[in-house]
Amino acid sequence: MSTELPPRPVIGILHPGAMGASIGSALKGRAGAVIWADAGRSQATAKRAELADLVAVPDLASLARRSDVIVSICPPHAARDVAEQIAAAVDGREQRPLVVEANAVSPDTVAGIGALLGPEHVVDGAVIGPPAWEKGRTVLWLAGRHADVIAELFAGTPFDARVLGSELGTASALKACFALQSKALPAIWLALDEAARSFGVDAELRGELARTGVDYPAALGAVTAVAGTKGWRWVGEMEQAADAFAAIGLPDGFSRAAAEMYLRSGPPPTTGA
Ligand SMILES: NC(=O)c1ccc[n+]([C@@H]2O[C@H](COP(=O)([O-])OP(=O)(O)OC[C@H]3O[C@@H](n4cnc5c(N)ncnc54)[C@H](OP(=O)(O)O)[C@@H]3O)[C@@H](O)[C@H]2O)c1
Repeated sequence: MSTELPPRPVIGILHPGAMGASIGSALKGRAGAVIWADAGRSQATAKRAELADLVAVPDLASLARRSDVIVSICPPHAARDVAEQIAAAVDGREQRPLVVEANAVSPDTVAGIGALLGPEHVVDGAVIGPPAWEKGRTVLWLAGRHADVIAELFAGTPFDARVLGSELGTASALKACFALQSKALPAIWLALDEAARSFGVDAELRGELARTGVDYPAALGAVTAVAGTKGWRWVGEMEQAADAFAAIGLPDGFSRAAAEMYLRSGPPPTTGA
């Protein structure tokens, strides 16, 4: 290992959403304790944390002070804010936690968080696949100087942790490219459907698509179902993916347009589920 963690590290999860609860649960076997911060979180998050058997601490500052490793796994638009709160909480602390920035953010956002917390204290992470309660479907890509330390924590868990390299931002770059396919592309069906309805040509369009072999109902149904519950969170992810493309001089309009379409899908479900 290139940095020392205690044999049974305390691991903080910010926050136990659908993904964070599965990460926290996966790490329990290796950790002394997996903790989460109660302040400001919804009943749905508290319930997920309880079901995953995570230990509640009052707030983010106490979590940051107690943790050897912190996993930031929250809506992408909140990633920078969470990092700033961690930075404020650990300011002056001799032993800094290793922070896994596991959100779907741009490489520049990761670099900024590295500058804030110290690049040697940050590992870039990107999850591709659903919350992992069983092996075989979800890969956690890791990059950064101590990516190997984090990969080792996930050994034997449902997360297949893979180290991409030592450069912060490469894991997030991979996720931004993947998201163009998984989230920006399907948003075209939402735009196409709304446009055809506005023009009053939706029946004819459906007919033409069927005649030319396109399974429009399946494609539209799939994205509509998921946009209703996750679209609000994908707005931030699409903006971050757009920033990633803009930073290397590629058109960023695909992801920005997708962000606009997902914005129309409304606020988070009131249950917080
Ligand atoms: N779910 C997936 O399939 C999936 C797959 C790959 C990657 N990811 C990544 O995982 C991350 C989290 O996704 P998720 O599915 O776990 O989302 P989620 O189920 O919506 O959970 C989000 C968590 O963050 C908290 N939160 C909400 N607003 C916040 C804010 N403004 N500041 C700080 N925390 C906030 C929520 O707390 P409240 O309950 O209080 O709102 C909740 O605990 C995202 O970066 C996403 O890209 C998810």
